[in-house]
Amino acid sequence: MTTAAPAPKAGLEGVVAGDTAICNVEQDALIYRGYEIHDLAENATFEEVAYLLLEGEKPTAEQLRFFKDELIANRALPPAVIDYLKTVGPMVAQGAAVPMDIVRTAVSLLGNLDMESQAITPEANLRKAKRLTAKIPTIIGHMQNVIDGKPIVAPDTGGDANLGHAANLLYLMSGQRPDKEAEKVVDVSLTLYAEHDYNASTFTGRVIAGTLSDMHGAVTGAIAALKGPLHGGANEAAMDMLREIMADLNGNIDPGAVRDWMHKAFDEKRKLMGFGHRVYKNGDHRAPILHALGRAAAKKRGAEFVKWFELGEIVQKIMLDEKNIHPNVDFPCGMTYYALGIPVPQYTPIFVAARITGWAAHIMEQHANNRLIRPRANYVGPDLRKWNA
Ligand code: CMC
Repeated sequence: MTTAAPAPKAGLEGVVAGDTAICNVEQDALIYRGYEIHDLAENATFEEVAYLLLEGEKPTAEQLRFFKDELIANRALPPAVIDYLKTVGPMVAQGAAVPMDIVRTAVSLLGNLDMESQAITPEANLRKAKRLTAKIPTIIGHMQNVIDGKPIVAPDTGGDANLGHAANLLYLMSGQRPDKEAEKVVDVSLTLYAEHDYNASTFTGRVIAGTLSDMHGAVTGAIAALKGPLHGGANEAAMDMLREIMADLNGNIDPGAVRDWMHKAFDEKRKLMGFGHRVYKNGDHRAPILHALGRAAAKKRGAEFVKWFELGEIVQKIMLDEKNIHPNVDFPCGMTYYALGIPVPQYTPIFVAARITGWAAHIMEQHANNRLIRPRANYVGPDLRKWNA
């Protein structure tokens, strides 16, 4: 039997699946709407980057003030979502629910409660994108409070109006207002995580939007795609792997013992989490930025946090020397969030709090110039046969 479709590329590697004006991912630079990632990490706040991605241009001082006010005004969650978090939060300890699935369902529920959920005009999409950007940190924070068995922090307002986006996220999770350094580290991590062209979750969102489905539905699907350990779930998996190595080595970080551990992992064909990338074969631009910030934060917090970076650096060196594989952004993210005391199962939800801006920008771009995304498959099943043979 013949097929009209050409032979596929496994994992669509190297396939250019469409145009975008939002982001350019290349080995020599990562660019958001014309601005290079080091420039943004150093000079822009996450709110400014979010505005850039959603609106297309860098905000003026007045536009930024207005945007921040809009985010603050939209932080609080509807009571039905808070009730949902109270119901499902305790299921985490029982192993039935994980935070990424809770964020996914809470976003879907927000869609059911949003009077504009079915509207896909540019104006309605932008308003929904801002509401989601404002509310996702509140979902994460309230969920963590329930998991910790503590009262929900600021249930009426979704935080402290004097705190910026990153600081408020940390405040909602712990009830403690973070110091400037923790705020800065998380703020930069959000910028680094905000956008990455046609990665798996964004592509998922675009496929859903391409059927003319709605923003909340497309974001819900994108969250499900981000969860996997080959994608956003790698930041949790990277820290879990370091904890596994540390436990197996009884806390004795000896390079020879780490090498033996890694050789066993290679023999078992295990993928080392937080390493490798489909596009960046010579290193991920984002990883050294977060590594340096995270290491500095760990140093201020003490040896018990620095030791994770010491172990991570040994793993990185062996990976590079023996496999020529570089860490991606998720590797330093694990160690960095650990140093800030963030619970490991919230690492990927925090990735959601950042990537919502990139996803929303892509969903809007897809809706603005839509054609259904419907590729062909290369049929490799049985030859034609008769049911009543
Ligand atoms: N550990 C060990 N070997 C690896 C790794 C790794 N992390 N990554 C790639 N390789 C090897 C792989 O085994 C293969 O070797 P061989 O040719 O001998 O079979 C070769 O490198 C090419 O790898 P690949 O799996 O074909 O590459 P890919 O482009 O399909 O996969 C990847 C990219 C990111 C899924 C993969 O590198 C991986 O599984 N990494 C671990 C998970 C991870 O860190 N994901 C985060 C991705 S980036 C940020 C994000 O989305 O959050």
